[in-house]
Amino acid sequence: MIIAIDGPSAAGKGTLARRLAEALDLAYLDTGLLYRAVAAKVLESGADPDDAEAAARTAAALALDDLARPDLRDERIAQAASRVAAIPEVRTALLDLQRRFAHTPPGGKRGAVLDGRDIGTVVCPEADVKLFVTASPEARARRRHKELLARGETSIYPRVVAEMRARDARDSARATAPLKPAADAVVLDTSEMDPDAVFRAAMDIIAARTAPPSSGPDAAP
Ligand code: DC
Repeated sequence: MIIAIDGPSAAGKGTLARRLAEALDLAYLDTGLLYRAVAAKVLESGADPDDAEAAARTAAALALDDLARPDLRDERIAQAASRVAAIPEVRTALLDLQRRFAHTPPGGKRGAVLDGRDIGTVVCPEADVKLFVTASPEARARRRHKELLARGETSIYPRVVAEMRARDARDSARATAPLKPAADAVVLDTSEMDPDAVFRAAMDIIAARTAPPSSGPDAAP
C-alpha cells in the first residue's frame, strides 16, 4: 500500500504521515528531508543553492543515511531547500530513491507513507490513497512559530509569516512539479482541526479508499 501525502509546510503533513505509518505498520519517508539534505550539503561545499550542476551532483549521490543530520530543520536550510527543489535535475535525481522506497519499503514493511509536495502528482501517481493536507497561511504560521519557540529558538511572528510566504511562492510557482493537489487527491483543510481529528479523518478516508468491493445485494455474484 502506498499513501501519498502532499501539502504546504506546517499544514500537519509530517505529524499525520508519522501517525499513519505507525498505525498501519508502513514505512515512512519525509521527502522534504531529501531536499533539505541536498541543500545542507551544497551550502557546506560553499556552492550556491541555485547552482544547478552542484545541486544535481549532490542529489545524485544522496543516500537515506544523509537524512539523519540534526541541522536539517534549520530555517536557513529550509530556504535553501526550496531553491534546490526548483531545479529540475535535482528532482529527477531524487525520483528513483523515492520510488524505490515506495515500492520496496525498508524493514520488510508491506507499504509506505511518503509526504512532500509532488508525491501524488509525480513520484507515485499510482498511490492507493492521496491526501492533500493544507491549512490557512495564518494557522500554518502560528503553528510554525509555536514549534520554533518550543524548540528553544528565537521566533518573530511577522518574520515566520514572511518566510513561509516566500517558500510557498517558490514551491507553488516553480515550473517542475509545483505544489498542487493531484486530481484524485482528497483535500483535508486542517486549519480548525487538532492532530487527533486530522488522524481520524485520514483513517476514514483510507478505509473508504482501500475497502474491498462491496458484497452487498448489488454486488456481482
Ligand atoms: O516539507 P519540507 O518543508 O521539509 O520541504 C523542504 C523543501 O523541499 C520545501 O521548500 C519544498 C521542497 N520539497 C519539494 O519540492 N518536494 C517534495 N516532495 C518535498 C519537499
